[in-house]
Amino acid sequence: MRVGVFVIACLALAAGSPAPAPAEYSESAAVQVIEETESFLAHPHYLDNDEIGALFGQLAKDYPQLAQAYKVGRSLQGRPLHALALNAPPANDKSGDLLRPMVKLVANIRGDETLGRQIVLYMAEYLASSYETDDQVQRLLNTTEIHFLPSCNPDGFALAQEGNCESLPNYVGRGNAAGIDLNRDFPDRLEEPHVHQLHAQSRQPETAALANWIISKPFVLSANFHGGAVVASYPYDNSIAHNECCEESLTPDDRVFKQLAHAYSDNHPIMRKGSNCNDSFAGGITNGANWYELSGGMQDFNYAFSNCFELTIELSCCKYPPASTLPAEWQRNKASLMQLLKQAHIGIKGLVQDANGYPIGDANIIVAGLDEKPIRTSKRGEYWRLLTPGLYSVHAAAFGYQTSAPQEVRVTNDNLEALRLDFKLLPVETNFDGISSLYSPYFF
Ligand SMILES: *[C@@H]1O[C@H](CO)[C@@H](O)[C@H](O)[C@H]1NC(C)=O
Ligand SMILES: *[C@@H]1O[C@H](CO)[C@@H](O)[C@H](O)[C@H]1NC(C)=O
Ligand SMILES: [Zn+2]
Repeated sequence: MRVGVFVIACLALAAGSPAPAPAEYSESAAVQVIEETESFLAHPHYLDNDEIGALFGQLAKDYPQLAQAYKVGRSLQGRPLHALALNAPPANDKSGDLLRPMVKLVANIRGDETLGRQIVLYMAEYLASSYETDDQVQRLLNTTEIHFLPSCNPDGFALAQEGNCESLPNYVGRGNAAGIDLNRDFPDRLEEPHVHQLHAQSRQPETAALANWIISKPFVLSANFHGGAVVASYPYDNSIAHNECCEESLTPDDRVFKQLAHAYSDNHPIMRKGSNCNDSFAGGITNGANWYELSGGMQDFNYAFSNCFELTIELSCCKYPPASTLPAEWQRNKASLMQLLKQAHIGIKGLVQDANGYPIGDANIIVAGLDEKPIRTSKRGEYWRLLTPGLYSVHAAAFGYQTSAPQEVRVTNDNLEALRLDFKLLPVETNFDGISSLYSPYFF
């Protein structure tokens, strides 16, 4: 850890901003001095949104090979949604970081559920500063691109009160500045598409920015941190039955989700006991709908609308615990975070290319028995398909190409390294004799 005092200028954060921030909020060009002793845990406090921007700017400056600061979008009141990406430079310039899975750690979608916000910041700082000295961290960043978004709801956070453990009725801080619960504002997998479009017009700017971010980057794995309970929850949160609670609503990838949830819970000294905050969860994990049913949540959105498998991780009974608890909470969550991030490497990964070796984007990777959840290739033709150990039959399909033959693979997840499985696809043969082919001239 570095020792000393450094000066952070939060200038130029507004570069490229679409609209000026409303009057109640201004991005000050103030120069802040943050004291660093052993680490910033020595004087634990919650960073405000400007301080998060400044910290990420500083990390990008201190570790230019590893860290890149950016913004996912802006809140209703114009606060930036600060993000950081960490990724070690590729050893081989030729292939670059091809097939390196992307993961994300996201927090504070409820402005008053704040512990995750700090845990995400500590994790970013810890990984960046330990890369040179810690083999485990080095291996993780050599093989994984990690994105950090400590606050999805900076306007809510600005209103929330430290030490407030519950969102009481009429409580400000849980929703965004318009009082909307952002974790009910996402397109829902069970809604009709035309309802999506209606909602799209009234969607909150935070939700729109998050949804766009989730869809536009090929994330594989995600954790989304909440408070008010201590448990690792996995999709689905909503169910066709719409029972308020206590009925499981499982994805086809339930085995994967249980493994991911256990990777977190088993390494957390309190969560794994499964009995906290007057709630009881076997093994410290739960299916979302089995706990309580909800629609329009971010977790289901990730799974239903992108390739990303997201967990909702509840970190503390008290939603906004006093800052004095932060060092102990960080210690409780560090191993869980490391183990969860490594799960980005379970299952299979590979490239889908045409006969000339050009990437095929938007190809579907289909695993027999998990057909309901095809994984789509990135623009570079990459895919990552999280799987638990077992024997699988996998094929690739893409528009304009012949579907590949199924390939049998045995997944062991030894050393948490994804098994490489590539596909070469041949173009659909143009058929000028019949009119059955989509490419028949009769259609034009
Ligand atoms: C990480 O990558 C660097 C550069 O390619 C390499 O020198 C180093 O040995 C790698 N570290 C680990 C732990 O794999
Ligand atoms: C648990 O329930 C008891 C009795 O209803 C209550 O007094 C206590 O405050 C509750 N604890 C939490 C953390 O909710
Ligand atoms: Zn929550």
